[in-house]
Amino acid sequence: MLTNLDISKAMTIKLDDDLLETPEFVKGIRRAPKRELVLNQEEIGLALKNALRYIPEKWHEKLASEFLDELLSGGRIYGYRFRPKGKIYGKPVSEYKGNCLAGKAMQVMIDNNLDFDVALYPYELTTYGETGQVCQNWMQYRLIKKCLEVLTENQTLVVSSGHPLGLFESSTDAPRVILTNGLLVGEYDNQKDWHKAISLGVTNYGQMTAGGWMYIGPQGIVHGTYNTLLNAGRLKFNIPDEGDLGGYLFVSSGLGGMSGAQGKSIEIANGVGLIAEVDYSRIQTRFNQGWIKKVVKSPADAFKLAKEYTDKRKNISIGFCGNIIDLLEYAVNKNIKIDLLSDQTSCHVPYGGGYCPQGLTFKERTELLKTDKEKFIKLVNQSLAHHFGLIKMLVGRGTYFFDYGNSFLKAIYDAGVKEICKNGENPNDGFIFPSYVEDIMGPLLFDYGYGPFRWVCLSAKHQDLLKTDKAAMECIDPNRRFQDKDNYIWIKNADRNKLVVGTQARILYQDAAGRIKIALKFNEMVRNKEVGPIMLGRDHHDSGGTDSPFRETANIRDGSNVTADMATQCFAGNIARGMTMVTLHNGGGVGIGKAINGGFGLVLDGSEKVDIIIKKAISWDVLGGVARRSWARNKHAVETAIKHNKENKSGDHITIPYLVSEDLLERAISRRG
Ligand SMILES: NC(=O)c1ccc[n+]([C@@H]2O[C@H](COP(=O)([O-])OP(=O)(O)OC[C@H]3O[C@@H](n4cnc5c(N)ncnc54)[C@H](O)[C@@H]3O)[C@@H](O)[C@H]2O)c1
Repeated sequence: MLTNLDISKAMTIKLDDDLLETPEFVKGIRRAPKRELVLNQEEIGLALKNALRYIPEKWHEKLASEFLDELLSGGRIYGYRFRPKGKIYGKPVSEYKGNCLAGKAMQVMIDNNLDFDVALYPYELTTYGETGQVCQNWMQYRLIKKCLEVLTENQTLVVSSGHPLGLFESSTDAPRVILTNGLLVGEYDNQKDWHKAISLGVTNYGQMTAGGWMYIGPQGIVHGTYNTLLNAGRLKFNIPDEGDLGGYLFVSSGLGGMSGAQGKSIEIANGVGLIAEVDYSRIQTRFNQGWIKKVVKSPADAFKLAKEYTDKRKNISIGFCGNIIDLLEYAVNKNIKIDLLSDQTSCHVPYGGGYCPQGLTFKERTELLKTDKEKFIKLVNQSLAHHFGLIKMLVGRGTYFFDYGNSFLKAIYDAGVKEICKNGENPNDGFIFPSYVEDIMGPLLFDYGYGPFRWVCLSAKHQDLLKTDKAAMECIDPNRRFQDKDNYIWIKNADRNKLVVGTQARILYQDAAGRIKIALKFNEMVRNKEVGPIMLGRDHHDSGGTDSPFRETANIRDGSNVTADMATQCFAGNIARGMTMVTLHNGGGVGIGKAINGGFGLVLDGSEKVDIIIKKAISWDVLGGVARRSWARNKHAVETAIKHNKENKSGDHITIPYLVSEDLLERAISRRG
């Protein structure tokens, strides 16, 4: 008969036999609200059984009731007892145990994602975006770390939704880690089945870089937000390429994990930002970091201060302590001009706590979520409908509103407002307001291959970061395109803008050629021992890594925006070309079933082998996306593909679409009557 003793003896990588004390929760660290628990009695038993399979038998009795308490009170089993005591943070790579650099480097990245200063709900392993987790529970965290400590250059660690399936023999040319999160079979790729699976402890919401272990704090989105705001201004207010947002007002909401970047970005673009946030602790975090400069408590004070600065054409970021709807109501009633307007509440999970209804404090929102979910949903829907009405009025007065990738427009539709749809019925033909990708990011950046390239100096030395900043700047020709000029200015001022939260990391939008040039330069610097090893990666929110019809692929209009071939091919191609870590997720910033997204990590160890991976894999990672965008007839992508074919006669060759005349189509169709 199969016994737990036999099972334990069959494993060398397993949790320790000693039971740890439950660590104290540090006061003042944000805690996740109760998650939706949809399990019946029998399924609750299954969830317990699933969690206990990580635990030696002698502790089952004790932990069964502890885990049951966690499940009933928090909606999930996090296994708090297994969280290591004290502060977790990305230490210098040399301080980690491991048989290979990659194994140690991954540990830096994971720990950085769980740093009290970086993560949204660190005890619940949630890095950002309300629900984006590194893995499901602390048992998995410990096991993953154990695997990484013994991983060799001939093995690959496979992680399925946070669960380390094991180390499997591969080769030195294969990735060291392949991980996926939240992938569901089509029929079950819906909210109901998703909630059940996650409550059972068999899947994980990785968002993008949370579950992809590549989060670098809110800096990760600052450059993209800066690009978006600046280009929105250029597009709508005829600001010249060399101009900035001096004198313009941007209003939005959210100072959380990603949304926290808004204040910093608008300041860098020299505009005035007014950001509403209902959770005072998050305002405090951003204020302490210097990412917002003033905190105000009333809409009147907020707009008064904003006007002072727009009049002077000086920049400032202001945190408004309250609900975005209160702020917009005031602007509508007092006829205040808002130039740029967006929203970054966690609308990919509006009913899970991501969107705070008007009239509730943050504390009341958390309480109501726990006690009366039905009422909470009703209030969210009412608020979203009202929020829409206010935006419509402001847009009528000349405000440019754009959806900022948080599924806001879809949430309004789900709240029952059909008017938000172009066809007045359903989102099949899109929404009446643009998403930032449709108007800005897509045509001006992604279609060329410009995307959120990033790196982490694994030595944890600020000096290394400064050297890489300088080297990256020297790789950019600011006169090539206006995007290069923006990127050049960005990296030139990056240190001065104090962007680092957590590890010594940097984000820098680049196209394929730029990314390759910089990566090769960095690898050479590692080889010459000018800097320690570097982890390269990117946000999944990129040219080729993500299929998401409401966001990254919102400007794909040949009907293929509903397919997920590109992200999947990107993932597979990166594995084939030997990236160190390759990831693929369901959901991301817009919610389960609405996106497939993937990313990578590449450890620069200075070797020539890594030079080859840089040339082949980074090129594929970006140009696969450009090729698909080109095939969808996106003008800048077609131009980029033509240029690439001309310059790469012996390597890549992209197929390019013939263009069809609209007149011809009209004639052909009208001939048929
Ligand atoms: N555009 C992008 O590139 C991008 C990138 C990452 C995430 N996102 C999406 O943006 C959203 C925000 O991400 P995040 O990581 O900041 O999430 P978050 O949950 O950390 O932050 C959202 C913040 O909004 C606040 N909030 C909620 N309702 C509010 C209201 N009515 N008024 C004022 N404040 C309110 C919350 O208190 C919270 O602090 C998510 O949906 C995420 O998926 C977009």
